[in-house]
Amino acid sequence: MPRRVTLRAPMTTDLATIDRIETEALEALGQTAEEAGLEAWRIAWLGSKGKLKSLMAGMKDCSPEDRPAFGQRMNALKKSLEAAFKERKNQSAPAAGPPLDVTEPGDAAGQGRRHVLARTIDEVVDVFSRMGFTVAQGPEVEDEYHNFIALNMPESHPAREPGDNFFLEGGGMLRTQTSTVQIRVMENTPPPIRVISPGRVYRPDTHDATHYSMFHQVEGLWVDQGVTLVDLKATLIQFARTYFGPDADVRMRPSFFPFTEPSAEVDIRMPVRGKMQWVELGGCGMVDPNVFKAVGYDPEVWTGYAFGLGIERIAMRKYGIPDIRWLFENDARFLRQF
Ligand code: DAH
Repeated sequence: MPRRVTLRAPMTTDLATIDRIETEALEALGQTAEEAGLEAWRIAWLGSKGKLKSLMAGMKDCSPEDRPAFGQRMNALKKSLEAAFKERKNQSAPAAGPPLDVTEPGDAAGQGRRHVLARTIDEVVDVFSRMGFTVAQGPEVEDEYHNFIALNMPESHPAREPGDNFFLEGGGMLRTQTSTVQIRVMENTPPPIRVISPGRVYRPDTHDATHYSMFHQVEGLWVDQGVTLVDLKATLIQFARTYFGPDADVRMRPSFFPFTEPSAEVDIRMPVRGKMQWVELGGCGMVDPNVFKAVGYDPEVWTGYAFGLGIERIAMRKYGIPDIRWLFENDARFLRQF
């Protein structure tokens, strides 16, 4: 802040008073820094109603013989203040280039977030973990034995046609279902078994709003003695109510899968943008005895259920995402919303 100076118009030609005023003015100027302060000083001292002007008005009170000396001194004062102002202004102006405020906060780096599908998988896994399931992983590059044969899908099964699979040169294939992990787990672990396995699967579908050549499933497998359909349905209901809320429900519609007998489609009644709706989420059933035989479990002793749910289905319905392709375009403006 410029120092406040009270000035009386001098009644005399006292040159010493003018010296004192000059000192005062220069001191005040020395204490201004910002643009606004400098401008206030200029108006106060050099402005059309400034102190210099009112000092000048004292001229008329001078005796005629003092008047030249007074006038000269006043001119010198004006020049001195103007020069001092100009210099001060130059000092405070930036040397060159745009003004740079080094105290301004930088651009936010932008925080990343989990992809909506990764989050959905985490949430689903979390619910099943609390029911005692552990997570198993299997390879995405598979062989036909684990993808088909051990799952009771004979050579003649239509799902094994080249047009429905990504077969690899030199053998092997991209897995079309996470059911492969059932086989891999049972091959390596004696019963009882309680695992879920989330992961990517691949099918050569033409991309459209509901199809993509890669998507995600979560597989579930429970093997023990005396496991029944009731256990299967109870587990799915428990999952549905924990994940989607107490009003959620499960419907099983008779169906066919080679690796379960009996088999069913799983529908879950879940909130779809606030309204309860039945959504087809996957398949399930009681593990087929042929599958147990393939992994060396005695089907007379062991029983089990299995299920497979679509992760995209869950996320798309839950969040009202109308097009599966949006999930894989990596457009941050879209993904940021979840
Ligand atoms: N693998 C089946 C599919 O991709 C889904 C499925 C159905 C998994 C029944 C299962 C099951 O474990 O028991 O369409």
